[in-house]
Amino acid sequence: MCGIVGILGREPVADALVDALKRLEYRGYDSAGIATLEGGALERRRAEGKLVNLEARLAKEPMSGHAGIGHTRWATHGAPTETNAHPHMTDKVSVVHNGIIENFRDLRRELEGQGATFTTETDTEVIVHLITHNLDNGMAPAEAAAAALERLEGAYALAIIFKGEEDLMIGAREGSPLAIGFGEGAMFLGSDAIALAPLTDTITYLEDGDWAEITRNSLKIRDRAGAEVERAVQKSIASALLVDKGNHRHFMAKEIHEQPEVISHTLAHYIDFATGRIRLPDLPFDFKDLKRFSISACGTAYYAGLVAKYWFERFARLPVEIDIASEFRYRDVPLEADGLALFISQSGETADTLAALRYCREQSQHIISIVNVRESTIARESDAILPILAGPEIGVASTKAFTCQLAALAVLAIAAGRARGHISEQDEQELVSALIELPRHISAVLRDESDYVDLAHDLAKARDILYLGRGVNYPIALEGALKLKEISYIHAEGYAAGELKHGPIALIDEDVPVIVIAPKDGLYDKTLSNVQEVAARGGRIIMISDMDATDFGWDVQKLITIPSSHLFTQPLIAAVPVQLIAYHTAVVMGTDVDQPRNLAKSVTVE
Ligand code: AGP
Repeated sequence: MCGIVGILGREPVADALVDALKRLEYRGYDSAGIATLEGGALERRRAEGKLVNLEARLAKEPMSGHAGIGHTRWATHGAPTETNAHPHMTDKVSVVHNGIIENFRDLRRELEGQGATFTTETDTEVIVHLITHNLDNGMAPAEAAAAALERLEGAYALAIIFKGEEDLMIGAREGSPLAIGFGEGAMFLGSDAIALAPLTDTITYLEDGDWAEITRNSLKIRDRAGAEVERAVQKSIASALLVDKGNHRHFMAKEIHEQPEVISHTLAHYIDFATGRIRLPDLPFDFKDLKRFSISACGTAYYAGLVAKYWFERFARLPVEIDIASEFRYRDVPLEADGLALFISQSGETADTLAALRYCREQSQHIISIVNVRESTIARESDAILPILAGPEIGVASTKAFTCQLAALAVLAIAAGRARGHISEQDEQELVSALIELPRHISAVLRDESDYVDLAHDLAKARDILYLGRGVNYPIALEGALKLKEISYIHAEGYAAGELKHGPIALIDEDVPVIVIAPKDGLYDKTLSNVQEVAARGGRIIMISDMDATDFGWDVQKLITIPSSHLFTQPLIAAVPVQLIAYHTAVVMGTDVDQPRNLAKSVTVE
């Protein structure tokens, strides 16, 4: 996903723009650029690849303007070349854009017919020519921008500056988040609060359809209908301190190790540790009245929902319909009015999940969401949110957010079971006690991290890797496979262990490591018999279990021992070894662990 920034400053802005873009690197990108007003004229510097290349360009060709915009581009339309890098501009206007203009082809044909000359393959360039056309027809800058916005279909967050307008910046938002930052005689635009953290902690978020006319000492926000509106000004929590690696080599490593702390923060938000009772925010429904409910999310967040399905059905006897959001949003799911729809999203900006939410809104569902970013769009469009207190998650591969999502879902499942009379007060105390022990168990797993390095060197040679699990540990097998493939680029698949004999076992030979999540639970013996089939075919077995290797009955290449714990918390504990396997294998592979190729931290486009 692209990142955008804008600054109306009191001193040269080039370095501050690049610093703000560095805080957006976690989103994933493949080129970058800035534009500033130099003596009233628009100038820009762009570079392919990482920001260091842009900094090298700026060292050779410095910029001194006090007004500017910047962009990190994750290519959607057009190759990741310098030509396609933002900002895009004519001599009259410069634009940076996050999102996709869906009607750009029609607009491009119309503008070329009016004599516009296009130089890029991007959808964004149509915005530049639309505004230029309006300026050429005598519109003032803000009016020219507003008229251009009315022609756009699709998603955008925009920052726009104009030739000769040293004290004007336009921001606009439709579908992609955009924050305005307030400084002392300075104003800022950024894709999120993290980008603005070094510049200000006082921000306001535009709503979809808003556009803002910004000067160093004034802000005018208009909504889709053109009416002036006020948007809440808030203190951002993304302070400058929260987004550095500490003493870790990668953000992902830091975030894996933050899990004991952030899980305890999240649990403390929902559990009264004194009484051991759950305390939820007011919810716009009563679990007693529900016949079933739907869960929708993407990627890792979806796997968290899959674990929760087992919990809601077991502890609350509540059937759960769950689907990945990109399918859910188009399936035309029949939903009874006044039902419950739960959405899980770390960023709170994932386009597919947001679209599924809006579908459920149209179907008169109660909407609740579990998010890590409380100011996010999904949070703002929910009837109630269950925040996780994971702190900013910078690594593209989700780790601490996943286990915090599971912690929040575990609390919700207990509350549902109590409300529906399937969990006694004693049961609640037992399950809550198990949750309270979690940080200690996860710390124990993290203490054995050195065990993973040798295993990683071996896995790094593999072409295919299988992950197996049963019951609530089946989604952990799926998550482990996703973690590995998204950061090490090794192909991996997660399977329900019982499914192996229905086809995947054909993949097994001595070159295919099989990673088995098998804590001692009610399905342990069945899992062992599935793995027996692997052993009999010479498969290389890596066990993640709280049981001793002598208990298995066949040789394992590696046993990763996890603490014995309550059945309820086993998935959260087993999540950590699969994170560490993925991380250390990626380190051996030498990939860009925090910003893996082709990936973005938050996918705000379809
Ligand atoms: C997980 O490691 C991936 N980065 C990806 O699958 C992610 O979980 C998915 O895109 C959903 O993101 P969200 O939680 O911000 O909605």
